[in-house]
Amino acid sequence: MDYQQAISKLEQYGQSHLLKFFDQLDERQKESLLAQIEETDFSVVKCLEHKDEAGGRGEITPITCMQVDEIQREKERFDALGMEALRNCKVGAVLLAGGMGTRLGSDAPKGVYNIGITKELYIFECLIRNLLEVVDRTGVWVPLFIMTSDKNHERTVSFFKEHQFFGYAPDKVWFFKQEMAPAVDYRGKVYLESKGKISTSPNGNGGWFISLERNGLLSKIHEMGVEWLNIFAVDNVLQKIADPAFVGAVLDSHVEVGAKVVRKSDPEEKVGVMCLEDGKPSIVEYYELTEEMRYEKNHKGEYSYNFGVILNYLFSVKALERIMSHKLSLHVVEKKINCLDEDGNEIRPEEPNGYKFEQLVLDMIHDLDSCLPFEVVREKEFAPIKNATGKDSVETARELLRKNGVEL
Ligand code: UTP
Repeated sequence: MDYQQAISKLEQYGQSHLLKFFDQLDERQKESLLAQIEETDFSVVKCLEHKDEAGGRGEITPITCMQVDEIQREKERFDALGMEALRNCKVGAVLLAGGMGTRLGSDAPKGVYNIGITKELYIFECLIRNLLEVVDRTGVWVPLFIMTSDKNHERTVSFFKEHQFFGYAPDKVWFFKQEMAPAVDYRGKVYLESKGKISTSPNGNGGWFISLERNGLLSKIHEMGVEWLNIFAVDNVLQKIADPAFVGAVLDSHVEVGAKVVRKSDPEEKVGVMCLEDGKPSIVEYYELTEEMRYEKNHKGEYSYNFGVILNYLFSVKALERIMSHKLSLHVVEKKINCLDEDGNEIRPEEPNGYKFEQLVLDMIHDLDSCLPFEVVREKEFAPIKNATGKDSVETARELLRKNGVEL
């Protein structure tokens, strides 16, 4: 793309300011900015226009969840079913590690964070250890796909290499990058990160399957005979991955997706809750539940909307392929975005200063026909690290790891 073409593309979207410092760039920087303008999809900014409109949700009703007591009763059977599927290499794992982890406040990928105290213990290491437990039990490697983004790909890959993949088989691990989207100020003007670079951020965790496919990994998945993909977040250091009992329960229930859930700590907890929306599986955000719904009880006297999602899902590959052509909606998320001021000085804001655009996994769930919410014991499987201190932080995760016998 040449300068004139760039101008006309930008004018079309009201983003001409992105060439403001063009004359100050050297030839290489000019080329790279023009290339970035060519490949950026500025049309995403349009969804700001609908930002404040009601979500257009359908009728929300409770979904039945498989609870811990029932799972305990069936544990042996579920375990055996899951172990068989794992031994036959029917299950792959997908680590969602493309996020920016801005709340943790480190520029490095979240997984390289050292949460150890007397020794090194990295977030990635915890996750690999958890997965290795299953590999040890089944004697079969679970193919592991790791999603990164432009912002953290090189560091993530080099970190795994430096640490010999924490004992995982390197030839059973595939890295792939997710797509990026431009970030904007409150008026919808795309930010520059530096004079020759548009500010972009990963486009949310919902794009993982399309990105897998675009990176040529779906054919690999077919080649290996993988039929189920267990996606999981980078920040929950206690979660079980490719957990045989979960796999078995999902297979046994003949659903298109299984969702690990935890019992809410109280009706007011701010967590997305599994539900049905117009009869299809869905997730309702805490702020979308009315007070009446938060306290509603079922015939057993239990809260009707009582199980929060922890971003650990087991998807049927076949079902994902069926819904793949359906474009997921973009969510407008307020965030801190590195940018330039009027004079071209680089700014790292302390407070949110604009919006990013993200596709979310929860919208994939709603596209599917059936889901099994599968309860796990919170203290044993949910230790998210979102913040440096306070709620869902390094401190709270350390406490939970200790309680579960992990040496720090
Ligand atoms: P979060 O919603 O916590 O977002 O991600 P984040 O970007 O990591 O953190 P903050 O909000 O900036 O502090 C939940 C999971 O989804 C992944 C994250 O890596 C994490 O595992 N994710 C999120 C992606 O893989 N890509 C994205 O674009 C966003």
